Amino acid sequence: MEERIKKTADALSRSRNAVALTGAGISVESGIPPFRGKGGVWEKIDPMEFAHIDSFMKDPGKVWDVLIRETKSHIDVAEPNDAHLGLARLERMGRLSAVITQNIDGLHQAAGSSDVIEFHGNFAWQRCLDCGERIKTSEVSMDELPPRCSCGGVLRPECVFFGEMIPPEHLARSRVLSAACDVMLVVGTSAVVHPAASMPAIARQNNALVVEINREETPLTGVVSDFLIPGDAGEILSRIVAEMEKRL
Ligand code: APR
Repeated sequence: MEERIKKTADALSRSRNAVALTGAGISVESGIPPFRGKGGVWEKIDPMEFAHIDSFMKDPGKVWDVLIRETKSHIDVAEPNDAHLGLARLERMGRLSAVITQNIDGLHQAAGSSDVIEFHGNFAWQRCLDCGERIKTSEVSMDELPPRCSCGGVLRPECVFFGEMIPPEHLARSRVLSAACDVMLVVGTSAVVHPAASMPAIARQNNALVVEINREETPLTGVVSDFLIPGDAGEILSRIVAEMEKRL
C-alpha cells in the first residue's frame, strides 16, 4: 500500500494534467450508501423499477416515495469527507485539473473542487415536467408526493435516470479530458455503468497512469488500471496528499 501511495504521489508531482473519475464509493464515508456491494441501494430496490425514466413517468409518486425521499434524506445531511477534501487540495496544489463524477450529491463542489463534470446531473435542483421551472430541492416540500410546481406540473430531479442520455456536453468534455490526462485517479466506482466506466480505458489508451482507489477490485483492476490501492478513499487520498506536501 505504502509503495503504491508513493508511486501515485510521484506521478501526480510530475503530472501536467491529472483528472479524477469518482463514483458513489467516494461519498460512503459521508453517510451516503453506494448502489452496489455491501449496503448498496440496489440490493434493496430494483433500479429498473425505481430509477428508470419510464418508471418515473408511469408513477412519479412511487419513485419519489421509494427512491427520491431516501436519496434526499442522505444528501440533505451529508458533508464532504477527507476524500472529497483531498481531491480539492490536489486541485489547489495545481495537481488535479478536473473531477468527472457520477455522483449527484454536490459534495465535490462543497469540498472546494472548482471544475466538476456531473456526468449524471445534480440532485440540488428539481425541474417541472410541464413548465420547465427549476426549483431548489431544499425548497421542495415532501408533504404531497409527487411534489408539484406552482403550475401543477410534477417535479423531477435534474439527475439522469436510467434510460436517459448523459448530457452530451458532459460526455464530450469527459472524453477529451480522459484522452488528454497523464494521470487518472479512479475513486469509488464499481466501473460497471457506461459510458462513465469507459473513461479510464480512454485514459489508458493515451498512456495515462490509471490508479484505482477502492475497497475492492473492479472489472478495471489489472486490465485497464495500472494498480489498485485497496481501502477507504478518505484515508488513501489523505495519505497521497500528505506524501505530496512533503515534496512542496
Ligand atoms: N472508499 C473507496 N471505495 C469504496 C468505499 C470507500 N469508503 N465504499 C465503497 N467503495 C466502492 C465499492 O467497492 C464499489 O466499487 O465504491 C464502489 C461503489 O460502486 P457503485 O455503488 O456501483 O457506485 P458507482 O460506481 O458510482 O455506480 C455508477 O450506477 O446506479 C448507477 O447512477 C448510478 O452513478 C451511479 C452509477
